[in-house]
Order: sequence, then C-alpha cells, then structure tokens
Amino acid sequence: MLDGKRIELGVCYYPEHWDKSLWRDDLRRMQEHGIRVIRVAEFSWNLFEPKEGCFDDSFWDEFLDIAEEAKMQVIFCTPTATPPAWLTEKYPEVLNCDIYGHPYYHGCRKHHNMTSPVYLEFVRRITEHIAEHYSRHPAIIGWQIDNEVNCETAVYHAPSDHAAFRAYMKKKYGTLENLNRAMGTAFWNQTYTDWDEIHLSRNTLGANTNNPHMMLEERRFISEAAQNYIGLQADILRKYRRADQFITTNGIFGMIDNHKLTREQLDFMTYDSYPNFAFGLDTSKLQERSLRDRETSYNLIRTRSVSNRFGIMEQQSGPGGWNTRMVQPSPKPGQLRLWTFQSVAHGADFVSYFRWRTCAMGTEMYWHGLLNYDNRDNRRLAELKRTYQDIEKIQSAAGAKVTAKIALLCDYDNEWDGMEDKWHGPLRWQSLDGWFKALERAHIPFDFVNIDDDGTSEPLEGYDVVVYPHPTIITEARAAELKAYAENGGTLIFGCRSGYKDINGQAPMTPMPGVLRELTGGTVEDFTFIGPADAPVSMVWNGKLVPTPAFNDILKPVADTCEIAAVYDGNYYAGAPALLKNAVGKGTVYAFGSVFGEETVNAFIRELGLKSPVSALLDIPEEVELSVREAADGTRYIFLLNYSEKAQEITAHTAIQDQLTETELCGTYTMQPYDVLVLKNK
Ligand code: GAL
Repeated sequence: MLDGKRIELGVCYYPEHWDKSLWRDDLRRMQEHGIRVIRVAEFSWNLFEPKEGCFDDSFWDEFLDIAEEAKMQVIFCTPTATPPAWLTEKYPEVLNCDIYGHPYYHGCRKHHNMTSPVYLEFVRRITEHIAEHYSRHPAIIGWQIDNEVNCETAVYHAPSDHAAFRAYMKKKYGTLENLNRAMGTAFWNQTYTDWDEIHLSRNTLGANTNNPHMMLEERRFISEAAQNYIGLQADILRKYRRADQFITTNGIFGMIDNHKLTREQLDFMTYDSYPNFAFGLDTSKLQERSLRDRETSYNLIRTRSVSNRFGIMEQQSGPGGWNTRMVQPSPKPGQLRLWTFQSVAHGADFVSYFRWRTCAMGTEMYWHGLLNYDNRDNRRLAELKRTYQDIEKIQSAAGAKVTAKIALLCDYDNEWDGMEDKWHGPLRWQSLDGWFKALERAHIPFDFVNIDDDGTSEPLEGYDVVVYPHPTIITEARAAELKAYAENGGTLIFGCRSGYKDINGQAPMTPMPGVLRELTGGTVEDFTFIGPADAPVSMVWNGKLVPTPAFNDILKPVADTCEIAAVYDGNYYAGAPALLKNAVGKGTVYAFGSVFGEETVNAFIRELGLKSPVSALLDIPEEVELSVREAADGTRYIFLLNYSEKAQEITAHTAIQDQLTETELCGTYTMQPYDVLVLKNK
C-alpha cells in the first residue's frame, strides 16, 4: 500500500461490535466492492488485556486468520486511545484534566494524559505485547499508532503534565534567570524564584489570560509530549515489525509539529476526511463564497505538505453525528465518489471509509458507515462499487505527484502564538483563507510549505511565487532562507504584522519588519486595526481599487531598489504607501500592508500573471475544482471535480481523453452534479 503502484480502497472495521458469524460474510462483501484493506483494533484494549497484566490473544488471532483467508490486508492499531476502566479506576493519575484540574473520567475516549509515567508504562507494555505477538501475522501490512492524537482535546492539565512541563522548561532554559528573561516575567511581577512555581496554564483572572510567552512554550511542550508518546510506540513497533510493514497514524490535529513527527517517527501520515462537516452545524460553511465540502482540499493540501506520500484512513461514507452533538445530512448521491476522487486528486493513493456498518450502540450510533443497522445492500454501497470501478480506470496515476508553482508558507511558531495573540493570529487564518479560495477558483494549484530554522519542507526553488502571509515571529535563519530564494529569482510576498516578534514572542527594539527589512527594502512607520467605526480602506494599485481589510501597516520605502506600488485611499493615512515592491538579486519582494482577502489575492494573481496550468487546454467554471498529478514519464492526470448540485459546463479546446467515461472530449461537455472527470494528457 502507498508504494506508488496502486490506488487502494479500504474500510474501518470493528469485528468486536458484531457476532462472529458475520465476519466472513462482511469480508466477502467488502472484497466484492473493491475493499482490499481494513483497519482494526484501535479501541480494543480490553480484548488484548482484560485484566491488568493478563494478556489474551484469542480474539484477534481468530479474526486475523479469517482475514487472511479472505485475502484481506490489515492495518493493525495500538489501542492506547481508550484506556480500560480497570486501569483508570486503579490509577487515576493517568487521566487528563481540564484547566481547573478536574479529571476527565471513563465514558468517552482519549481521557488519558500523555505524560504520566504510569500511563506510559502501560502503553509501553501493551504495545510491546501487541508488536511482538502480531507483527508476524501475514495479514498485517502496517500499523496505526493510537487514534487521532489531539483531536478530542489538545490541552492537558493533569498533575503529571505540570510536572513534565517543569522538566521541559528546566531542560530548555537551564536557569531561572534565563527562563524569566525569555518569558518576560518582569511584567506584572510574574518572576519565578523556584522551579516548583512553574505550571502549565491554569485558571486565571481575565478570561484565562496567561503569560503569552509561557503559552507559546506550553504548545511547544504539548507537541513534544505528543511526539514522545507516539515515538514510544513507534520505537517498539520498529523493533518487531516485518520490513514490509509501515507505521503511520491518523492526523492531522492541533498542537503537534506534524512535519517533525512524520519525519522522525512515521513512514507516512494518513488523514481523516469528513467533508460533510460543511453541511452540518458549521453554518459558516454555508455562507456565500464558502467552498463548502471543497474546503476539505485545504486540509488535503496541508496533509500533502506533512507527508508527500499519504492516504485517507477514514473517509465519511454516511450521515454523521454523535448522540450528543453534530447532526449531519446523508451524503448526496455522488458525494461519496466525489470525496474519494477529491483525496486522490490531491495526492492520496489510499482511501479507506469510515466505517463498514453503522454501530448499533454507543455514542456513535448515528455516525453512519457504508451499511445501515439492517446490513442490507443500499445506495451508498452501490456508489462504493462504482467508485471502485472508476478508481481501477486510473490505476496508472498511482504515485503521480501533484504539481504546483505557488507555495503558501506556514510555521508552527506563528500558528501557536497566534492562537493566543489576537493581533496577528486571526489575520493569518483570514489570509490563508483568501489565498486558498482565490487560487481554487482561478484553478491555480498550490502547496503549503512549512518553514523552521532547519529549512523548508520542500525546496523553495521549485516555486514561481512564495507567499508568507504574516510571519510575525521570524528568525535570522528563516530570513536567510527567504533571501536566498528571492536572490535566485523568486517572487516573495509578505502581508502586514510581519517580523516584529522573536522566537519567544517578544518584540525586539527595532523598526518593523525586523529581520525582514533587508528583504522588503522598507519599514513600517505606523499601523492600525480598522476599527468598527472606520470606513473600509482600499489601496490604489495600477489605477484600480483593491481592498486592504482588517489591518493596515503604513509603509515607507528605504532602499534604492524599493518602489511604492500602491497607496491607501482613505483613513488618516490616505496617500501613504500600502504596497512596496523591492528588487532583491534576480527576484522581487512585495511587502503588503494588510490582510489578503479573496479580492486582494485576485489583484496579485493579475499583477503576477498567474494562470491555470491547463488554461490552453480547458475552460473550467469556478464551481469545478482542478488538480493535476504528473507521473514520472510526464503524463498529466487532470482531475475536474464538480461540488455543485448543479450541472457545470466545461470546454475542451483540443480533443482530450477522459479516463472514467473512456471517451474523448472536445468542445463543450456538461458535468453532472457531483461528477468527476480524470483527463489524461501528455
Ligand atoms: C473520527 C474518529 C473515528 C470516529 C469518526 C466519526 O474522528 O477517528 O473513531 O469517531 O471520527 O466520529
């Protein structure tokens, strides 16, 4: 699986929820519908260890033999996401706590913490047992560690977490003097005089306002704790696994440096795709200009940045909801297939559905799978069959790489600092949203690229344009990386609030944008939020008005190489520079004083002459998504996906072969609601 040779389909299966008499029939029906892989065991600790220290392998041995007989490939999980009642009752220190220190008790899942030595010892023991006993089983092709680490919650406040944070800070800063300086504790008399005074965030006055520099460290600490927790299991699995078995987990969630985690602990990352969230309770997704379920592509592009080779461990296949929250409609006819191709279009070579049959009990009895409680064939299963038949028609696309010439830079420091800091965090999300939507609608593929002091997750040279919307925290090393890119001929774009914080989130006494000054060739002279009583402000760029929403930096060119490209048209700074353009080596750097809304990004697209990579071949309406995968021999697979409930017309300027209908398109062609085309072009 994920070897670049085949695109595989899978399903999440819970044999422990059903009578054994159903297993063989279930596996047979799966095979009939194109399912070659199942994922099992992630919530079944009690089946392995029903009593402390007493292991029993009879259940999974029996099931795995039946799976092998049915020629089913199995992804086997460690069951650490759901510690048993016998464990949490006897050792309550393994429980996670809320910010008030109250434990989360048994009854849901992910109620454990990731630092208690007691829990880590239980995790070590169960993983060791499972890895040693099961890794030899021929049906097992790979391992999933835990389940969705940091999904249910990404904050931890157990006593062991406070103690581990203390140790982390001690190791990082060595002395209290260093720590106090880095954490800015001179402010409000927060100075620490003893290591025992150090805690993770706790209940404070002012709507849980904690020291912002400590909060940034807290998030780095949670990431490290998650990496250690997953790493503990990965190390054990590596010790026992067969060479042909992979190690993965299903992410990607907050407060984890997923790039580092994947690089250091996993063979690849998988993602859980639930596009139906667009149609449930999240009404923001129903607003005008929202891309609704197409917005899942944002997460798929993020996942590709974490792990170029990736799969979908869970894809929504029915209506969703817990009994206590989330109410989602059933996927419309065509959407299950559309969402499968959405993932494949963005680079996934494995798509596994959640789940085979809807559970007839428990919190998730409304999180429907392919089959309903009654177990009869239904329209979703029929759609799976069609999806499988269509996937078979594009098997030659397996391993082909998604191609993009635009990179949006991201980093964890600004993401985590911005969760607390309302002066830049929300701007970042607005700008990423603006770039995503504008590029999506213009059919210009892009990559997310991560940057830290060790470099970037992809070499920047391959991109024509690199956008780093709001690098508030920036270091010399990162600035040097960006400078090299621009000097070699790249086009670099920054937004407002750039470069005024150091790695601890403090503001050095230097003109903004700090270490980026040499690149932008100018400074920030003044700045303001656009207040609720202010009239909207725009900039005049190439004779046109372009919105400059939310926040305005009032800029000033300093270097001879820097020119004013646009000026503000309103507020007290009307006529002052809003956009600078600086020549750096063979490249160009734009410093934009505001936030990138969709309309603003459209102006950049025009200025830079960015175009769809298939513009010579095809006219595609806004509603239809484009993604292109290119094989090693140069063959391009052009994916067109219609998310709309209405038919959409595309035009092919030259004859081009669609792999799914197996016909040649030329001239206009009508895509039906939720339909997909995969055009092959060399
Ligand atoms: C995922 C999770 C599954 C199941 C599913 C539907 O986030 O990994 O175990 O809970 O959501 O709620």
